[in-house]
Amino acid sequence: MKTAKKYFTDNVLQKRGIVMEDQAMETAVLDKLTKICLCKAISRATIKKAIANKADTVEKVQQATGAGSGACCGRRCTAKIEELLHLDQ
Ligand code: FES
Repeated sequence: MKTAKKYFTDNVLQKRGIVMEDQAMETAVLDKLTKICLCKAISRATIKKAIANKADTVEKVQQATGAGSGACCGRRCTAKIEELLHLDQ
């Protein structure tokens, strides 16, 4: 038996696309809060934006965002950038 809350979520919010908007908003917030390059405080949102703007290699992403130019010289963030590039393909 469905609870009133479950019915509301399944039948009203999904039909109106509100659940999808919430998920998209949650992803956008997490992307802004998650730092890919800790040394330069470059967020996942910034990296994704660079990839969306045709930066298709690690070097191009680093050049566009400044990631990889911090104290660790990219040792901590390069693999994360590569992972995001592979997710985009
Ligand atoms: S984490 Fe990106 S340069 Fe150090």
